[in-house]
Amino acid sequence: MAERVPTQVLEALLRAVPEAALVLGSDFRLIAANPAVTSLLPALRTGELLVRGLRSPDILEAITHAFASRKPQKVQWRERVPLERLFDVYIAPIEVAGLPGMLMLTLRDVSEMRRGERMRVDFVANVSHELRTPLTSVLGFVETLQGPARNDPVARDRFLSIMGEQARRMSRLVDDLLSLSRIEQSAHLQPPTIVDLSSIAGHVVDTLAPMADENETQIVLHAEKPVMVRGDRDELVRVAENLIENAIKYGASEKPIEVAVSLRDRDAILIVRDHGAGIAPEHLPRLTERFYRVDVGESRAKGGTGLGLAIVKHILARHRGRLTVESSFGQGATFSAILPLPDAQGQKS
Ligand SMILES: Nc1ncnc2c1ncn2[C@@H]1O[C@H](COP(=O)(O)OP(=O)(O)OP(=O)(O)O)[C@@H](O)[C@H]1O
Ligand SMILES: [Mg+2]
Repeated sequence: MAERVPTQVLEALLRAVPEAALVLGSDFRLIAANPAVTSLLPALRTGELLVRGLRSPDILEAITHAFASRKPQKVQWRERVPLERLFDVYIAPIEVAGLPGMLMLTLRDVSEMRRGERMRVDFVANVSHELRTPLTSVLGFVETLQGPARNDPVARDRFLSIMGEQARRMSRLVDDLLSLSRIEQSAHLQPPTIVDLSSIAGHVVDTLAPMADENETQIVLHAEKPVMVRGDRDELVRVAENLIENAIKYGASEKPIEVAVSLRDRDAILIVRDHGAGIAPEHLPRLTERFYRVDVGESRAKGGTGLGLAIVKHILARHRGRLTVESSFGQGATFSAILPLPDAQGQKS
């Protein structure tokens, strides 16, 4: 009878493999496995048949094929419980003269990669869709101006102003996309400067007061003391702008919008609270997704691209902070941007 490789040697080798990896004998029984296999397939035991821990006809067929053909095989395996996950399974015969046939099976989790691919595809589809509407409208007006409205100065002025508005919308979308990708690129770099969140909030409230006026609402600010945080001033201005602008656009009411900067435990918090229509609970978890809007028509009519809160979320993540939203339909909405205080940051990371 042929000798075997000591199991400890195989186990030591498998421990060096980053993915879940195991070695199987030609009798389909498990010879050795690494800890990643144990946590992925807890029912699998050394010396027992592979099917006891991994029930997949595709994998079994590929193993049979690998032993018969002595060629590596690759199949996919979808695990449904406890989480839906997708694995690339590589099956490679191990042939050593004088040793019985074995094969090595590795399982690589490709679920994240797949999700990433899907997100990229959705993203491109969303961007194209957002650009198509204003582009179609601009092209339509160009044709009208070249043809039927060629000598109609009144129509020309009106069409040109609509075209200008559509072009500005496209340019805003491109600007927002560029800043999103810039922020994502610097996600791992913490901002080097210390800035005053109260003065940022004050500055943004001042700049947006005329917009609040137009929407027949007011903004009141509670930010008496300086609140210093580690941050990029321009980026934090964007956070405040997006949140306050949203409150004006979607939450205007007779009661003023409240903006406050305060301290809680080791955090600085910028709170923007409105008393408008609020947001139904099913929308809350999705608000920070790119292009997500509760009412697409309303947001577009107000010049929105649906990227505002996605930008806010990314900026806060870069600042090691987070965004929380509390709202119930008809009761207004409270958005809180939470940032760790400079001295607490060192202890947290
Ligand atoms: N204070 C609020 N009250 C009610 N709904 C809100 C509020 N803030 C945001 N929303 C909803 O969340 C959606 C997403 O907001 P977000 O800021 O990401 O995009 P937007 O305002 O539509 O566009 P942009 O910010 O790019 O101009 C909005 O379209 C709106 O439906
Ligand atoms: Mg917005």
